[in-house]
Amino acid sequence: MQGLGRRQTGGVLEYSEDRLAGVQRSSRQKKPLKKSIKKRVIMQNKPNFQNTKMNVTSILIRPYENKSLCLHPQNKPNQTQFKAKTKPFLTPQPPIKAKTNPIQAQTNPNFTRHRRANPIFVPQNSLIVYNAAEIIRSCLMSTNDAAFQKCINPDCGATFDCGQSMFKCPECGELLDACYNWDKIEVPAKLSDFAKRWATRDNKLDFSGVWRFRELLNFCPDKYKITIGEGQTILEQNCAVAEHVGIKPDRLYLQYEGLNPSGSFKDNGMSAAFSHAMMVGAKSCACASTGNTSASVALYAHSCKLKCIVFVGSGRIAFGKLSQAMDYGAQTIQIAGDFDDCMRQVQDVCTELGLYLLNSLNPFRLEGQKTIMYRIIEQMGWQVPDWIIVPGGNLGNSSAFGKAFYELKELGLIDRIPRMAIINATGADTLNDLVNNKKLVWNNSRVDQKIIDDYYADLTARNFSPHTCASAIEISRPVNLKKCLRAIDICDGIVRAVTDEEICDAKAIVGRYGLGCEPASAATIAGLKHLIADGLVGPDERVACVLTGHELKDPNVTVNYHKDKQGQFSNPPIEAPNDLKEIIKLIK
Ligand code: F0G
Repeated sequence: MQGLGRRQTGGVLEYSEDRLAGVQRSSRQKKPLKKSIKKRVIMQNKPNFQNTKMNVTSILIRPYENKSLCLHPQNKPNQTQFKAKTKPFLTPQPPIKAKTNPIQAQTNPNFTRHRRANPIFVPQNSLIVYNAAEIIRSCLMSTNDAAFQKCINPDCGATFDCGQSMFKCPECGELLDACYNWDKIEVPAKLSDFAKRWATRDNKLDFSGVWRFRELLNFCPDKYKITIGEGQTILEQNCAVAEHVGIKPDRLYLQYEGLNPSGSFKDNGMSAAFSHAMMVGAKSCACASTGNTSASVALYAHSCKLKCIVFVGSGRIAFGKLSQAMDYGAQTIQIAGDFDDCMRQVQDVCTELGLYLLNSLNPFRLEGQKTIMYRIIEQMGWQVPDWIIVPGGNLGNSSAFGKAFYELKELGLIDRIPRMAIINATGADTLNDLVNNKKLVWNNSRVDQKIIDDYYADLTARNFSPHTCASAIEISRPVNLKKCLRAIDICDGIVRAVTDEEICDAKAIVGRYGLGCEPASAATIAGLKHLIADGLVGPDERVACVLTGHELKDPNVTVNYHKDKQGQFSNPPIEAPNDLKEIIKLIK
């Protein structure tokens, strides 16, 4: 704590105003501050800052002159309730069933902007103290003025410090971006300079497939960075699959994100988001999930010693993923609803209880997912492919990839941006429908909200719930829709939908000729077949398909496909008597 402008006097902690202000001021509100004025943080009960989470009952930040209260607990917190909710969570729990109300507000409006003094955004609820402790902690840490958060709504454009933790703009409820003041960051002159980190990979950050590109996601000091060895994934040039889809053998590349520690691309995002969680002093976290997010969150949470709650739709997630969440010790709540229900619930729960949200609404998660594109470029000899093909679910990946390419181009590190194709399953094709039928476009950041509202109102009126064998992308209200539209704009992108039959056949082809993947990942190969048939992808173009999850995530789909001879590539097991001669006869 030394050197951070803090001085302890009995039960009172003092901070110089410039320290607090420097951290909390939004980047567009930089006014010179009077250094002489001091703010005082009064911690009742315990003066020890380290113990604030469990023991502090109320925290007030106020100037000595008593000019204004910038953070004020509206209700006295209930100490018992507070303690119960922050109880350490160490033992694996069985899934808990919960009911959901299918129609709930998507955003929680209960945010107050404390306009006087420095802007601090806090939800108005009885656990305000918990948030206050985190906010104060974020004031104490050393922040990085090279990065800030910014609302994507052009009419709002509010900016916030990266030391603040929120998942939507508190001003208008829109999505937030992590943004950079690039002139304050030492970005390598060319992408190939990152190759030097291979020589120093005994440093964990240089080994990480995320953090070895850290200058391109420079929102957090190294001391908070979390890595469990994510991003050691390979880009395989796969001739057999290329022939199957109809392009030249050396033109197809498969990016195997299933090789991550939890078996999916999510780990890229989690290493970044958990670093941010560490930076803001989070103690507990949550996510909604179709499976892979929950597995990844559970894994990182136990490495970071964070309490972890995951929300999954009952009967909606593959067993491999559910087993991971339980095994890694997450409190697993099975909601009687689909992913979209879970997503609504988790946002409200996080707001109510002050939990750190790890869904792709979290702008820092998407920063980690940008690195999938850096690694594709790296493995192509620092060249950019012609096409990126990615499955579309909650649309975090596509959004992150678009941002990655935009930034690389802006920095002069690439000279052209590849095209992107986003592939939905026909049973969960909101993006495809909105883009191709309702003609929804980014429109220079002025997305036609009415098209989206009408579309969702219709889904609600029909009581629609998405269904596809690719359960990972069984989503009908993708939270990153607008950022994805932006990515489509950046990458001259297109959207297609493929049937479950096409997905399963494509999955079988990847399994036979590659390292295997889960159904959602195979949507990319099925989609590529369409794009080639439509003449959109030429036979000479270099295509990188992102295989997002490991084959073993969803063994049921695979076994059923083969055993029940569901498709043209089914390879059913042969029943044999326990007799050598008969067995040999069958093999011949
Ligand atoms: N592929 C896999 C294997 C996934 O798990 C997901 C998303 C996607 C593709 C879609 O990615 O959301 O970035 O468009 N899974 C999330 C989850 C929703 O909860 O595990 P996206």
